Amino acid sequence: MKELDLVQHAIKAQKNSQSKYSNFPVGCAILCDNNSIIYGCNIESAVYPSTLCAERVAIYSALSQGLTKFKAIAIVSNNSAKPCGSCRQIMHEYLGNIPIYISDSKGQEFTTHYIKNLLPYPFG
Ligand code: THU
Repeated sequence: MKELDLVQHAIKAQKNSQSKYSNFPVGCAILCDNNSIIYGCNIESAVYPSTLCAERVAIYSALSQGLTKFKAIAIVSNNSAKPCGSCRQIMHEYLGNIPIYISDSKGQEFTTHYIKNLLPYPFG
């Protein structure tokens, strides 16, 4: 699977976003070791702190299905936003040293990162 293919999956996931409070839809797709692809989108709540980011929805979904080894992750938002600190921590703990593709919602502004660069001096 090519980078842009995984980004296209994240764009599909972004369409499922439940983000009526922020109007900031985020989509995520994880390519697992067994080549399955797990989607995540941000899910917001009227109780704002109960909101969960797309990245953690996808990672927790994969883990809860017994998928623990990953090849790549793609994250999509309207302005190619980088993951928040909490998601970086969970990515550090569970994803391993895999490419992190960050893109806008058209798959045009597209960069590749690694967690060591996004989260230097991690805890745990
Ligand atoms: N959000 C994500 O889904 N991922 C991030 O890494 C940063 C923020 C979501 C949470 C919330 O629904 C919206 O974006 C605005 O913060």
